[in-house]
Amino acid sequence: MAKLIVVSNRVTLPEGRVLRAGGLEIAIKSALSRAPAGMWFGWSGKVAVQPQALQARTLAHDGILYRVTDLSEEDFNEYYNGFANRVLWPILHYRLDLAEFSRHDLSGYMRVNTHFARQLRQVLEPDDYIWVHDYHLIPLAWALRNLGCTQRIGFFLHTPFPPQEILIGLPNHERLMRDMLGYDLIGFQTADDAYNFSRYLARQLGLPIHDFTFRTDERTVMVAAFPVGVETEKFARMAQRTQHAHFVKNMLKSLGNRKLIIGVDRLDYSKGITYRLQAFERFLLNNPQWRSAVTYLQITPKSRTDIPEYAVMDRDVGATVGHINGTYGEVDWTPVRYVNRPYSRAALSGLFRTARVALVTPLRDGMNLVAKEYIAAQDPEDPGVLILSQFAGAAQECKAALIVNPYDQDNVGNAIAQALAMPLDERKSRHKLLYDAIAKNDISLWAERFLSLLMRDPVSGGGFVPLRA
Ligand code: G6P
Repeated sequence: MAKLIVVSNRVTLPEGRVLRAGGLEIAIKSALSRAPAGMWFGWSGKVAVQPQALQARTLAHDGILYRVTDLSEEDFNEYYNGFANRVLWPILHYRLDLAEFSRHDLSGYMRVNTHFARQLRQVLEPDDYIWVHDYHLIPLAWALRNLGCTQRIGFFLHTPFPPQEILIGLPNHERLMRDMLGYDLIGFQTADDAYNFSRYLARQLGLPIHDFTFRTDERTVMVAAFPVGVETEKFARMAQRTQHAHFVKNMLKSLGNRKLIIGVDRLDYSKGITYRLQAFERFLLNNPQWRSAVTYLQITPKSRTDIPEYAVMDRDVGATVGHINGTYGEVDWTPVRYVNRPYSRAALSGLFRTARVALVTPLRDGMNLVAKEYIAAQDPEDPGVLILSQFAGAAQECKAALIVNPYDQDNVGNAIAQALAMPLDERKSRHKLLYDAIAKNDISLWAERFLSLLMRDPVSGGGFVPLRA
């Protein structure tokens, strides 16, 4: 039987009680649950103590096989902390200024991709399908093809894809982008990302795209947008249940009658947390009637803590929170509650449901599933208001949110005031539009659309989201 093999940098093993904020794991689990036979392959999240841990091991759970390998310390530094997260991550988020390029790291990145390909080949059957996720593994198809693998291989990028004017700031960009031509299907979050990629191919590699496909000597490659969704109905039910949980009730008690504003993001410069805090300060400054009447809860689990830009970010956010609380706080009111520990999705669903406003204001984001989960969690009879950055992929579908420019403190500050004062009728009508949008394009549709194209005869075509909406 043909297997679906999903490959991502991190694999969430069933035994670990892992609380992670990223949407990638949820999306992958949903894709795997759809296939008759599935395997999830990638990094265990551990740095090898013994050399034998570099050999992949497999375990089975609930009908899914998990195959993981550790990374050596050198791999961890060069591939994960280095090229993936200090070069590709900032560039894909339009932050060329933060990219720290070193040739050393690029060779570590290629080495790990080759290592993954070798470990994967050991379990590949001729009719398997492979679905590779995210920027850590751009050259994986190329590495598999070099080993003689002819299976159909798809790639989905969870981050934005910047215009060519930014991407060409990456030394050796042609090499990396050419490696993408080993895939049969390449998916992006939005039509703009797919367009940026196509424009890069045409201008830099001289490969114009026709009918959402381009041809190389070896294959026809399809390119399309597949905006990732959430488990809309399931999340809504979870929120309905969890709002009665003890810890949500305790949190509400601790608020008194204050309205709750919530933000949930990994600690990352792309999320714009410092700008958001400054906009909240602007709101307090301009709207004294709301002081002592709102609490802003920012939940921010840390990741990539070995990377210097993240340490700087950690200090900046902490200092800004301290400044706001020191300036505006009272003995019985703390304006900002800042929490670094991660919470389960169930816990977050309950908190979302009780929050009158969600602040989702990244400076750049592939999709942002927090925005969609917040919508799913609301009580349709008394919904909260989503304030959403124009630079999040989610803004393309969530047009009924209050769309803001995250760099503009007055704009975000005014949106907070507007959201808090919004009449029930308007909250309900906006929420209905938003909920319908995310119910129509939920996570199952995303996985089905990608997989049906990956598994389809490449010449028959059809079913694309156009490159330009
Ligand atoms: C983003 C990326 C994912 C990544 C997640 C968490 O959502 O697109 O690929 O897994 O961040 O980052 P981390 O470095 O902790 O895996």
